[in-house]
Amino acid sequence: MPKDSLSITDNRTGKTYEVPIADGTIRAMDLRQIKTGADDFGLMTYDPAFMNTASCRSAITFIDGDKGILRYRGYPIEELAAHSTYLETAYLVINGELPTKAQLDEWQFQLADHYIVHENLKKFVDGFHYNAHPMGMLVSTVGALSTYYEDSKDIFNPVARQHQILRLLGKVPTLAAYAYRHSRGLPYEYPDPRLSYVGNFMAMLWKRTGAEERYAPNPVLERALDLLFILHADHEQNCSANAMRAVGSSHADPYVSVAAAAAALYGPLHGGANEEVLKMLREIGSKDAVPGYIKRVKQGEMRLMGFGHRVYKNYDPRAKIIREAAHSVFNVTGTNPLLDIALELERIALSDEYFVSRKLYPNVDFYSGLIYEAMGFPTSMFTVLFALARTAGWIAQWQEMLLDKEQKIARPRQIFTGHATRAYVPVDKRK
Ligand code: ACO
Repeated sequence: MPKDSLSITDNRTGKTYEVPIADGTIRAMDLRQIKTGADDFGLMTYDPAFMNTASCRSAITFIDGDKGILRYRGYPIEELAAHSTYLETAYLVINGELPTKAQLDEWQFQLADHYIVHENLKKFVDGFHYNAHPMGMLVSTVGALSTYYEDSKDIFNPVARQHQILRLLGKVPTLAAYAYRHSRGLPYEYPDPRLSYVGNFMAMLWKRTGAEERYAPNPVLERALDLLFILHADHEQNCSANAMRAVGSSHADPYVSVAAAAAALYGPLHGGANEEVLKMLREIGSKDAVPGYIKRVKQGEMRLMGFGHRVYKNYDPRAKIIREAAHSVFNVTGTNPLLDIALELERIALSDEYFVSRKLYPNVDFYSGLIYEAMGFPTSMFTVLFALARTAGWIAQWQEMLLDKEQKIARPRQIFTGHATRAYVPVDKRK
């Protein structure tokens, strides 16, 4: 009997089956042969929320949640955080290799060409209510891009696909900045291709129309934002990447697929968590109130936002990098007064049996919001920043899925728990 196999005995029939084990997995389809009789559909697995199911093969991001390891295309996140830029990391995540100097220059040049969006997109943004959440605006406007490019449906044409990739990476910051300026009642700023990717984004957000000839981003804040974007570029099969792959698997165009991924990110259990962290820190109000709040969390009244992760059962390596970077930002902006509350929360939680036994550590969202707020972003923009950075990862996941011969339209099975056949009852006969 081959060693890399699993023997399964079906006690209903007494039959034994042997299924191969490869890469630490068995194929769910290999279970289909296990039947009680000719009419039996065959055995399936039941895995709500994909707790133990690999849905794809991927060469993009590696995570070891127990050891707190994160790598993009083999490069440790710590090294990329120390030496790379977001644009270079986006290239790496999408194309699989670090670019040469010439490739990087070309990438930057081509992207800068795509910062601008069609003038009439402004009218679209104008249509939103003055207090519309910027994430809702981003989901809608990025989806609306689908209507502008006829070749967006030509997803198996590598040239057309590259166009959409450049457009998405180029235009998402512009749409994010439009959403921000709309919510502030400010006129939209045109992109400045002379600035870096992040510097241009900062200019579109904060350039004072009429008062500034050219926006000069603060280099410390520009680098900090770039670093945060690197840390958020991809995170393998999370909720939004799964949404991107699922929607993309129907061969929908990448704009509506990114809109779906962004919608998934919007939720408070995913990218919306850093917004919730700030709300929570404000609600706690002071260091003294931390023990009382922790007690309520342990009683199950609420969750400690920014804590816990489906995969990391150790300190999230991104949280560690952000925590260290926070100081350079606060040197420029002044300290965020909520930092003391956050540090106290972390200190108490990391020594409390409830959190220790459940392996609940700060995740990427615990500290990122504090930096964003110190930079001047309203909390409603936090998830938008996450979406901007994660666009690279969504694109990489989408492209990998499209080119994977084993992939088909994503279509899970169910265990039906409803009624068996019932005869229709006319409305006047219903009780
Ligand atoms: N605060 C308090 N208790 C928690 C927390 C938390 N933040 N997270 C998990 N737990 C507890 C659960 O109540 C559960 O306890 P029990 O075993 O006594 O019932 C146990 O830890 C396991 O929790 P699950 O919900 O099974 O863990 P899951 O892997 O499904 O959830 C998640 C992961 C959604 C991230 C969760 O930890 C959470 O809600 N955290 C807060 C929200 C957050 O910060 N999200 C951002 C995630 S990072 C990202 O998306 C970028």
